Amino acid sequence: VWFTMSSWLILLCFTVFISCENVLPPPCDSEIYCTGSILDQVQKAKLYDDDKYFVDMKLKVAPDIILSAFKNLSSVSPTVPREKLQEFLNMYFEKPGTEFETWTPPDWHSNPAFLNKIKDTQLREWALNIHQLWKLLGKKIQDSVKDHAELYSQIYMPYPVVVPGGRFRELYYWDSYWVINGLLLSEMRDTAKGMIQNFLHLVDRYGCVPNGGRIYYERRSQPPFLTLMVESYYQVTKDKELLRAALPRLDQEYSFWMQNRSVLVSVNGNNHSLNRFDVQVGLPRPESYTDDLELAEGLTEGKASKQQLWMDLKAGAESGWDFSSRWYISSTGQNSGTLKDIRTSQIVPSDLNALLCRTEKVLASFHRIMGSNESAVQYEQAAQNRLRAMDAVLWDDQQGAWFDYNLQTGSKHLQFYPSNLAPLWAECYSDEKAHKAVEYLKGSGALKYPNGVPTSLVESGQQWDYPNAWPPLQHMLIEGLSKVPSEDAKQLAEDLAQKWIRTNWKAYTTYEAMFEKYDVNGDGKPGGGGEYEVQLGFGWTNGVALQLLDQYGASLTSGSRHSSPGLLLIFLLLLSLLFTLH
Ligand SMILES: *[C@@H]1O[C@H](CO)[C@@H](O)[C@H](O)[C@H]1NC(C)=O
Ligand SMILES: *[C@@H]1O[C@H](CO)[C@@H](O)[C@H](O)[C@H]1NC(C)=O
Ligand SMILES: *[C@@H]1O[C@H](CO)[C@@H](O)[C@H](O)[C@H]1NC(C)=O
Ligand SMILES: *[C@@H]1O[C@H](CO)[C@@H](O)[C@H](O)[C@H]1NC(C)=O
Repeated sequence: VWFTMSSWLILLCFTVFISCENVLPPPCDSEIYCTGSILDQVQKAKLYDDDKYFVDMKLKVAPDIILSAFKNLSSVSPTVPREKLQEFLNMYFEKPGTEFETWTPPDWHSNPAFLNKIKDTQLREWALNIHQLWKLLGKKIQDSVKDHAELYSQIYMPYPVVVPGGRFRELYYWDSYWVINGLLLSEMRDTAKGMIQNFLHLVDRYGCVPNGGRIYYERRSQPPFLTLMVESYYQVTKDKELLRAALPRLDQEYSFWMQNRSVLVSVNGNNHSLNRFDVQVGLPRPESYTDDLELAEGLTEGKASKQQLWMDLKAGAESGWDFSSRWYISSTGQNSGTLKDIRTSQIVPSDLNALLCRTEKVLASFHRIMGSNESAVQYEQAAQNRLRAMDAVLWDDQQGAWFDYNLQTGSKHLQFYPSNLAPLWAECYSDEKAHKAVEYLKGSGALKYPNGVPTSLVESGQQWDYPNAWPPLQHMLIEGLSKVPSEDAKQLAEDLAQKWIRTNWKAYTTYEAMFEKYDVNGDGKPGGGGEYEVQLGFGWTNGVALQLLDQYGASLTSGSRHSSPGLLLIFLLLLSLLFTLH
């Protein structure tokens, strides 16, 4: 029996008595990539190691023909046997990756000025190697994706992109902030501008920036860094034309977050508007389909359980921290438990609100530059309101930091995460809070690891937890500390920069690769855990390393001076050997 998506939903409505008005939209409208029997059967058959493989495949013929062929196939037996499925895929689908052309960024050149700021010769050579990687990560989407969008899950982008790397074959949203900052240091302004223009195009098309460049990501976003991308670009270029073109779209993206992702929090009789990650979309994530199905096993259908779990998994993906014990709310109301306890939408995150506060201030300054004073005043007001809300809801005076707020229990989660310091990075705090926050960090136990600051102090097996350290979090922490007006905080920032650069460099010398994440223990190795193997490439790692090498290049060392006495000794031994031979 063949059910189209709608008849399947109607059946679901009748069988479990949920109100049909409450049916959530699917991840996208494609009956091949986001819903339906083909997706369901192919993913369940586990023909490929990674569920992302199938949904990245290109269709060889129009979707209608494929749907009809599958209908024929399943009329023989509703569950199509594995070998028949494979035959069907061979016939109608192409392997992933064919929609990209290799593309060498024309604005790449071999000697960007920042390299000269790096004193340590080994680090300078390494920085040049990282700078070379942009050429490998640059990709251009073929015109056929524009002309035959129905054959691809890839979203067409008008400009070439720099991708993270590995399984992340396409553009990703928040990754691109660090990529763009790196590109700007590499003096690749056109490439950076093209990336920004792609994101503006996505806002026009979807009303928000999707998580990444695939249709199965279109109904969830990621931490909204687009305004800050434009800020980085504008600081370097003073390109008012781009600013003028971008501003209406930046306003639109901001409205999306305020209309679709805000929540009223009542504390001490006062109401505060803050933001959260919240994806009102049903069904499993197509790219992690069987993971989501298996996790939901044993739960009942409907909004209260299976749908709820899938929504909160998508909200976790939207947070960029997929996944982390940070989003768990167990039956005791604490952020402990397992992935099944994920309740992302019930948590008001400190970093998202810090980011939006910084965004409000940047949007105000953009409107001032463009002469729209009225809008500027509105954004300044919004930033003031948010500051008040963050003080009231997220700041904990006893601990001295900003914590995520649990909407279910009306209390804060006091565990350590680098995001507890995000308001320093955003410069969104009042009075003496910065000093207290630095003391909090020092007393948190998070600074004692040799290779960086861990994502949490809990080893959950998820990748956004201990012992993994992630480039964007290191960078936000270091930048935040470096902006605090105290020598102590600035020194701490520099120490953390040195630690992180050495970690990246050591792993590079061992594996000849830049990884998406690292382990805070050991002598320089990639992180692990989560849903997939560790990936190399890697966009944001490169961007963060280049930024730190630029900022602290005069004092950073590769640490190899410790080994040079050894080299000297060998040299002397060889020399004396030569003499004895004579
Ligand atoms: C499906 O079966 C019908 C009837 O046998 C046939 O006309 C049609 O061509 C088949 N579709 C495909 C795509 O094979
Ligand atoms: C935001 O929410 C409105 C109303 O709930 C909805 O119509 C709109 O599609 C949403 N916007 C996006 C981009 O999802
Ligand atoms: C806070 O919001 C609630 C629900 O919208 C409302 O009933 C209450 O009057 C508001 N309180 C204040 C102080 O505005
Ligand atoms: C906007 O404000 C600035 C000073 O804050 C002022 O110089 C400028 O004339 C104002 N522009 C408009 C259009 O009101």
